[in-house]
Amino acid sequence: MTKHRILVQLDSDEQASVFDAVVAVDSEVEHLLQYHSVRPEQVRDLVHGAMFTRGPKDLHNTAVFIGGSDVAKGEQLLAAAKQCFFGPMRVSLMLDANGANTTAAAAVLAAARHIDLAQSEALVLAATGPVGQRAVRLLARGGCKMRVASRSEDRAAAACDAIRSAVADAQLTPVATGDTEQTAVAVEGVDIVIAAGAAGIELLSAELREACSSLKVAVDLNAVPPLGIGGVEVTDKAVERDGAICFGAIGVGGTKMKIHKAAIKSLFDSNDKVLDADDIFAIGQSLEVSE
Ligand SMILES: NC(=O)c1ccc[n+]([C@@H]2O[C@H](COP(=O)([O-])OP(=O)(O)OC[C@H]3O[C@@H](n4cnc5c(N)ncnc54)[C@H](OP(=O)(O)O)[C@@H]3O)[C@@H](O)[C@H]2O)c1
Repeated sequence: MTKHRILVQLDSDEQASVFDAVVAVDSEVEHLLQYHSVRPEQVRDLVHGAMFTRGPKDLHNTAVFIGGSDVAKGEQLLAAAKQCFFGPMRVSLMLDANGANTTAAAAVLAAARHIDLAQSEALVLAATGPVGQRAVRLLARGGCKMRVASRSEDRAAAACDAIRSAVADAQLTPVATGDTEQTAVAVEGVDIVIAAGAAGIELLSAELREACSSLKVAVDLNAVPPLGIGGVEVTDKAVERDGAICFGAIGVGGTKMKIHKAAIKSLFDSNDKVLDADDIFAIGQSLEVSE
């Protein structure tokens, strides 16, 4: 008898995410088991419950999704889940706490559709947050020369160190963008800007964007006014503005949703997947090829 596809949703928040639950249902998950307020020390028993109930040949029909609004907590839950496995006794895992992996993947794919990353220089604004750090990592893996921005140069340098531990040959320069003058210097001569700042904060003014004649692609991930890049509309999807192809947060949202659903579906192909930033980006690339 074919086993039903079961997704176990582990969420560190007080309420498990409704968004993640709806995407799971839309990704052909047949049964969704939701756990909220999950702490790392509770993961072992939850994952054991998932991996000791079906025989090894059926375990690919059970998978674990780790969400929640706190990406650092999500990473701890993922680390705890990975510790639970031995031999064939394992289930596939996916981390997309706060949508960070799918959002960063969608942003970088949007840029890569319009420019050769390996021949480009990119500025990621607010590169210290979970989405920004992942966007830098994915761009750097694509061979892009990176300017890694924060209001604080020390935080930018710390983000570069963290990214270098994942991408040893990354070309990273930390830059401070604490005021307009610093931001003007940071953006000068770049081909790509991705704004990954907190909601409701403008990081690059319309004037600076328009004055940046080298700019070919601009992606803003902040959907809450004021938006992250002045003059880029939230719904922009490859809209040309002043010589640059622009994307707003809703403009990349469709790709993000496709990646999220494809990643969930792929969990059930085998019982040994661990989908984090790079794997989720690769799933996005495979969709691009098939589209
Ligand atoms: N569409 C989606 O599904 C989706 C999913 C996830 C995220 N997002 C959006 O993607 C963006 C990034 O998400 P995130 O979770 O990585 O963001 P975050 O952690 O909230 O913030 C990212 C960075 O923004 C900077 N920042 C914070 N407050 C600021 C302020 N008052 N002024 C200037 N800079 C400030 C900080 O960098 P420094 O302190 O280093 O300057 C921080 O590290 C957000 O706008 C979020 O809403 C969208």
